[in-house]
Amino acid sequence: MADTQRLHPTRTELKSNARQVAIELLNKRLADGIDVALITKQAHWNLKGPQFIGIHEMLDGFRAIQDDLNDKMAERVTALGGTAFGTAQDVTSKSQLKPYPTDIYKIADHLAALIDRYSVFANAVRQNIDDADEAGEPDTADLFTEVSRAIDKQLWFLEAHTQEPTGPIRDGDGKGHR
Ligand SMILES: [Fe+2]
Repeated sequence: MADTQRLHPTRTELKSNARQVAIELLNKRLADGIDVALITKQAHWNLKGPQFIGIHEMLDGFRAIQDDLNDKMAERVTALGGTAFGTAQDVTSKSQLKPYPTDIYKIADHLAALIDRYSVFANAVRQNIDDADEAGEPDTADLFTEVSRAIDKQLWFLEAHTQEPTGPIRDGDGKGHR
């Protein structure tokens, strides 16, 4: 169901339909983005393993970037005359990310859980670039492009930790030597 809002007046010369569509897209991604921010700290606090300190500190950087992106999306909503929805209740009801597991500790498990959720967010944002453009709101498309570029970089950092795993040397049949 579309969350049609009563818009606050603005002198911005944009059609109200373009504003409505952009506000709805931005609030959806704001819910996802706050969820991403929360799970990033959840992993930062709880992961355990030999690469701990590097990933622990990397995730703090991710959180700072995501907080800034969330602020930009929320403020674009209000600049368009809408209401930004950023409460815990809104995130719970609107985020499309799967609940983050609270019973995992291994670095590989946290990386996999983050990659699963960052990629859902990244792909939704990428789709929304075109959605906002088609709705006639290029500034929101530009903001989604900024968010998309940032989240793709973070996804790359996460995936790079998993693509050349250390551990047993693999032979041809895929079973490790012990
Ligand atoms: Fe910390």
